[in-house]
Amino acid sequence: MAQEMTFSIIKPNAVKKNAIGPIIGKFEENGLKIAAAKLTVLTRPKCEEFYAEHKERPFFGELVDFMTSGPVMLMALSGDNAITKNREIMGATNPAEAADGTIRKLFGDSVGENAVHGSDSPASAERELGLFFEKSEFVNQ
Ligand code: CMP
Repeated sequence: MAQEMTFSIIKPNAVKKNAIGPIIGKFEENGLKIAAAKLTVLTRPKCEEFYAEHKERPFFGELVDFMTSGPVMLMALSGDNAITKNREIMGATNPAEAADGTIRKLFGDSVGENAVHGSDSPASAERELGLFFEKSEFVNQ
């Protein structure tokens, strides 16, 4: 299997409910490593750039309001097949449709406040990691 890196965000609702630990635990239990991490509050321009592909969606303003509303944990996750594996661990975008045991089922509140973000393809992973991390910050690949 291919060794990959993917981008992950623990969203403000999950940070607020003190769930950083259990969420990182899910990644580690499933063989992903935290290659880099930052606890920060996203600025509005950076968040709009990150979610640029959703700019025309009706929920864009609400999405940016929420994602800049409090601290988020930004991470690079590395491991075999990390992009797909992370998406499996997160579960479906809508927590109501997410499988039992997935992060979104356990910690998501709604489709907007769905606890975590994860890159959906190798191209997205590269773009998203590059927006938030310097190559020198991947200290645990
Ligand atoms: P994420 O993986 O961060 O990428 C885009 C986000 O848009 C997605 O997770 C959801 O949280 C959010 N989203 C998708 N659909 C809706 C919606 N109908 N209303 C609000 N937010 C949404």
